[in-house]
Amino acid sequence: MYVCICKAVSESRIRRAVGEGACTLRDLTRELGLGTCCGKCVPTAREVLSSALPEV
Ligand code: FES
Repeated sequence: MYVCICKAVSESRIRRAVGEGACTLRDLTRELGLGTCCGKCVPTAREVLSSALPEV
């Protein structure tokens, strides 16, 4: 499922980025371009990010 339509970033791509060390929305924005166009994906991206991060 695509989270960010503008930049064609899928949920699985976000999870992979987290596996590779991304831990903030800013990391995802920098690495994937997510949220840099219309910004509508940001709330969903935040949810996927927090569910993908290991519990602290
Ligand atoms: Fe992500 Fe538009 S859907 S910037």
